[in-house]
Amino acid sequence: MSLLRLDKWISDGSGYSRKEARGLIKSGRVTVNGTAVTAIDAKIDTDSARVVLDGQELCYQRFHYYMMDKPLGVVTATEDRRQQTVLDLLPSSLRHWKLFPVGRLDKDTGGLLLLTDDGDFAHRVISPKNDVWKCYLAETQAPVTGEDMAALAAGLTLGDGTLCLPARLEALDGCRCLVTVREGKYHQVRRMLASLGKPVISLRRLSIGRLSLPPDSVPAEITELTDEDLCRVFMDK
Ligand code: URA
Repeated sequence: MSLLRLDKWISDGSGYSRKEARGLIKSGRVTVNGTAVTAIDAKIDTDSARVVLDGQELCYQRFHYYMMDKPLGVVTATEDRRQQTVLDLLPSSLRHWKLFPVGRLDKDTGGLLLLTDDGDFAHRVISPKNDVWKCYLAETQAPVTGEDMAALAAGLTLGDGTLCLPARLEALDGCRCLVTVREGKYHQVRRMLASLGKPVISLRRLSIGRLSLPPDSVPAEITELTDEDLCRVFMDK
């Protein structure tokens, strides 16, 4: 048996804040296993309780997972006194869940960013040990070559001595290329390409594992992840 306060249960599983959930309970709109519960400090068994609000059964959801198409010019942080953060872009209905970004994208990098309140999940995605590959579309000042691909595949050593794990590089048309890495060192993709004499002009993360942004996604769009999406993050190890 796993006991949890009813207001927390409702808040975790719905768009209501804890305060709003307490208001719903007090006004008698919530039943637990068929009985109206009005005590705001009531605890329920998360394994077995059937919680109904205004005749509609609620589902309990301990953790929450979203993807954002991070726009350029926004910092990946939970708070910043001067600059707009990715959390500032969340609609108010998602603000009470204490979501945080999984890893970081630079201010000048756009694309796929995961947000969650599940620390274990975030750790699994970020840790290089788990081989979760992140793919970036880069535009560089000069086209990448076969030698560049071999250098990335062997594992680069950056100018300051930082060792990078072997990574994948694929040349596209013109000066565009795909870079796929399984770690997230500071400015890693920009620094790897710069060390090959190919400074980055623009950078966008396209995918994490096999999870990609929808092709028609627009900057700042936020989408809840399905169970299938969550599995895709850990595919392609
Ligand atoms: N590598 C970079 O250089 N920047 C990012 O934001 C992500 C990876």
